[in-house]
Amino acid sequence: MTEVEGADTAPRFDPFSDEYFDDPYDLYRRMRDEAPVSYNDTYGFWALFRYDDVRAAHLDWQSFTSTHGVDLAMLSTDPELVRMYGLMIMMDPPDHERARALVGRVFTPRAVQALEPMVAEVIDAALASLDGASSFDAVADFSGPFPVEIICRMLGVPAGERQQIRHWLDHMLERRPGELGPTPEGMEAAVASWSYFVELTRHKRKHPGDDMISRLTEATVERDDGQTTRLSDEEIAGFIGLLGGAGAETVTKLVANAVVLFHRHPDQYARIVADPGLIPGAVEEVLRFLPPSQYQGRFSTRDSVVGGVTVPAGHPVLLVTGSATRDERAFDRADQFDIGRPPSQALGFGFGIHTCLGAALARMESRVAIEALARRFPALAVDESGCRRVQMSNVAGYARVPVHVS
Ligand code: HEM
Repeated sequence: MTEVEGADTAPRFDPFSDEYFDDPYDLYRRMRDEAPVSYNDTYGFWALFRYDDVRAAHLDWQSFTSTHGVDLAMLSTDPELVRMYGLMIMMDPPDHERARALVGRVFTPRAVQALEPMVAEVIDAALASLDGASSFDAVADFSGPFPVEIICRMLGVPAGERQQIRHWLDHMLERRPGELGPTPEGMEAAVASWSYFVELTRHKRKHPGDDMISRLTEATVERDDGQTTRLSDEEIAGFIGLLGGAGAETVTKLVANAVVLFHRHPDQYARIVADPGLIPGAVEEVLRFLPPSQYQGRFSTRDSVVGGVTVPAGHPVLLVTGSATRDERAFDRADQFDIGRPPSQALGFGFGIHTCLGAALARMESRVAIEALARRFPALAVDESGCRRVQMSNVAGYARVPVHVS
């Protein structure tokens, strides 16, 4: 069949398609060039693809609110339901400031520095189990288990129950092509994890320890009516779910992405093996080149002109980080992986009021993990034919990365 003259050949971004899950980068380039501010009429959302537009939208929370949720399934439901979750990532000021202040102190760069010995111990234990192995899976055997172990230790989740949280999350974030919401297993996992967090909170009220959940049971917060009250079990369960989720999935993806990128760029791996001082820069470059969080969801509260196009009020809007950090308008040689790149504001941790609360922790965990990997395995090769990517909402990366070491 010949192509109909004048037929619509504009590129389309579908965040539930195999093209997106497998490798969206050619599509992102076309979106930036041909449709940088565009509407998807299948799912009814707008999306921004250029660095400057994504960055500006992050700063303009009055026009692009987080209160309708941050993934497409929530952005398409009743905002009153979203409000009931009580999660800071789905709040605007002043609620957002109050919620963030409750846990902010734990994640400052100084507080995070004090956690480094614990982080190094967890990471060394994970790698010690690979001693003598000639091959392993970078996700199942390394980058999957350690981040959830670290955040759960901070929260006060008992040993033995920590990995379960990651498995629940994997189900909750999974998306099938063409489907906006979670799978039936994902719904079951959401219910199971919620009940677990509420139970754990009740247990901590009776048996407090030196951990974040116990401290949250003591914390007070000023309500809209000016009254100050303690947090409810459900509010604390929300905190645990958010911190556990945000703290586990993303570092897993970043470290596995790093392993694949180092395999593809052995010269750059050799540089960090020879000089671990280059690793912090490498972490930033992995975050820019393959950001684990590919898009941030918002909802337009009023008409806004973005790049000359009017984004009307009343729609979900995706700020496509994965495209913004490869925008050749903002980065020299944007498609080249270069660990020696000068520092920049690359948006991989978001920007503005919702900038990743755990950024200092994530940077430290990733640095310590890559240092340990480079020390133990100065030569590694990935069997790319065995790699599998996740099919998830908002986050992207690998589910399986087979590695051979010599
Ligand atoms: C490489 C790892 C990580 C990446 C790529 C990442 C990415 C992001 C991004 C892009 C946002 C902004 C969301 C938005 O604007 O809607 C965010 C927010 C957040 N992140 Fe991370 N994150 C990482 C690790 C962590 C860790 C370790 C924690 C700690 C528990 C954490 C906790 C949070 C929280 C609580 C928020 C919400 C902040 C708010 O709403 O003010 N993240 N993260």
